[in-house]
Amino acid sequence: MKTRILTLLVFSIALILNSCTKDDEPVNPPVVTATPSTQTISSGSATSITISSSTVGTTFTWTVVQTGVSGGSSGSGSSIAQTLATTGTVAGTATYTITPTANGVSGAAINVTVTVNPVAVTVKTTYTADIKPLLVNSCTPCHISGGSNPNKWDNYATTKSKINGILDRVQRETTAAGFMPQGGSKLSAANIALLKKWVDDGLLEN
Ligand code: HEC
Repeated sequence: MKTRILTLLVFSIALILNSCTKDDEPVNPPVVTATPSTQTISSGSATSITISSSTVGTTFTWTVVQTGVSGGSSGSGSSIAQTLATTGTVAGTATYTITPTANGVSGAAINVTVTVNPVAVTVKTTYTADIKPLLVNSCTPCHISGGSNPNKWDNYATTKSKINGILDRVQRETTAAGFMPQGGSKLSAANIALLKKWVDDGLLEN
């Protein structure tokens, strides 16, 4: 009888102790770290943010708020690699809010802001926008429709076919035979560079 009571007592104490231990077990919410904590990228390239926690088995989810940026989306995992692009000509941001969860408990969310810079648009030199106004201005009246010279620089096809001659003549010494504009002053270095860039850009009309 005594043994029975003792056994019961020991068993009960063990049960109580066991339940106490379980109840008191501290459940620490996981802490999330993002590397880097902010990032700046060029439009059209991808983010590369690594997410981690010292709590083993932590999983991560994120949401994103975009301003002047597209390409971001909510998701989960241990890295954010999303290709972002600016929607306009100015820089924008994508702010990721990352929440860690471990053992069913979520930790405090952190924000990672990615700044997306627009990529400079390279403007090509064209006949209509750049070359025609330049030549009409500098080679008037001789090479313009109605002028004395048969080579008309207000005509795209003619100008395109004679571009090597044009470049040759405008780069001659002002005192040399055949210097152009005849009787005028030398084109500025910027204008000569523009004629060369037109060649490099592919002699586009528009
Ligand atoms: C005052 C008139 C006059 C002006 C202004 C003038 N030219 Fe001329 N250009 C001529 C005459 C005349 C000829 C023909 C004689 C010669 O080849 O040198 C000629 C010939 C040329 C030729 C050779 C064409 C060929 O293949 O037969 C080129 C190239 C040329 N000019 C370019 C230009 C350019 C570019 C300008 C402006 C930056 C210009 N010229 C301004 C009168 C002019």
